[in-house]
Amino acid sequence: MHLSKEEESIYNGAQGPTLQKMMEILVALGDIYEAKQLIPIRSAQIAGVSYKTMGDAGLEWIADLQGTAKVPAVLNPAGMDREAFADMGVDAAFARKQEQLLRAYERLGIKPECTCTPYYLERPRFGDHLAWSESSAVCYANSVLGARTNREGGPSALAAALLGKTPDYGLHITENRYPTVTVKVKEPLRGAEYGALGFAAGAQVGDGIPIFSLKSRPSEDELKHLGAALAAAGAVALFHVLDVTPEQYILPPERMEIGRQELESEDDWQVPTRFFLPRDRIEVDVDAVKSLAHQRAEPDLIALGCPHASKEELDEIVRLLRGRRVRVETWVCTGRSLGQRHPDVIAALRRSGVKVLYDTCMVVSPAAGRFKRMMVDSGKALKYVPSMCGADAALATTEECIEAACRGD
Ligand code: F3S
Repeated sequence: MHLSKEEESIYNGAQGPTLQKMMEILVALGDIYEAKQLIPIRSAQIAGVSYKTMGDAGLEWIADLQGTAKVPAVLNPAGMDREAFADMGVDAAFARKQEQLLRAYERLGIKPECTCTPYYLERPRFGDHLAWSESSAVCYANSVLGARTNREGGPSALAAALLGKTPDYGLHITENRYPTVTVKVKEPLRGAEYGALGFAAGAQVGDGIPIFSLKSRPSEDELKHLGAALAAAGAVALFHVLDVTPEQYILPPERMEIGRQELESEDDWQVPTRFFLPRDRIEVDVDAVKSLAHQRAEPDLIALGCPHASKEELDEIVRLLRGRRVRVETWVCTGRSLGQRHPDVIAALRRSGVKVLYDTCMVVSPAAGRFKRMMVDSGKALKYVPSMCGADAALATTEECIEAACRGD
């Protein structure tokens, strides 16, 4: 990889051992993936924040670093709400270590906003280059916003934050953003059914780039759930939806094997005539997706806000509660800044007995470990709760979750 004079001097240690180490990480990545150069990024989002996963070794590594982030940088969810950890059931020893870890990041000029939906803080623009870590955020930035980021590991996102650059490879390059597999869904979907679709299709797509032909037009929140589950069940970092996502127009006809005429001759492959789609195709079993999205359960925790809830999702939960109090422990996870911007909505949720949690989530916090059966409205949580929290998980729509929380009131 070509380095500028300044980059080379950092690599040789002229700006201290931390930046030297960070440059070594980026150069190693660039060499592996045959990047030609480093490119500037607009922002970074860094994973490796929960003390549950980082432990003492991770804490010491971060605490030893020196430097200041060159671009706006935030963190992934941590192991607890920084203010309400006791209420969550997080013990004081864990809380102390978690706080030390967050302060160590803060010392590096990284904003201790711990969220997997950093696009609600500042929405990246189409074409922006980013270095984000959290898989659902990566999928959203690439797919829904048309920004460009690889799925960074914690160290490479941190290195990108401290240097303001990332190697130019993978999804930063237009040719690598074309779809590789067509996924057809024959019936309209809504709400949690999009998470179920991502859960079902992700395993088949793997690390491919699906393009969906849908019978319904998903909202941005539904796309968020689709991408989060695709990234969790597979390793998808970018997807397209015909007539919905911003990058469908990059599809180059010479790379696509199915032409318009062939598609038009297949009645139920209804796609706009200007598109060419990959020949590899998956037809989704809609009945299986729908039954996955409407599971019945007797949960001891109802956990919403995976990925962190948007303002629209918080409003919807308040509407579904209709002023009732929950009878089953109910968490809603969201970003602290978003909650602080909308105190009335947060107050309405809390009046109903809902625990609104900032900085954390049901998957990365050790506090979720005391529950046996979780009900979630997220295909991503459905995937991770059993392995990360040791609890059974049932997927349902937000409405079904709220009805279970209120137990028929
Ligand atoms: Fe976010 Fe936690 Fe879900 S990090 S995407 S709320 S598993």
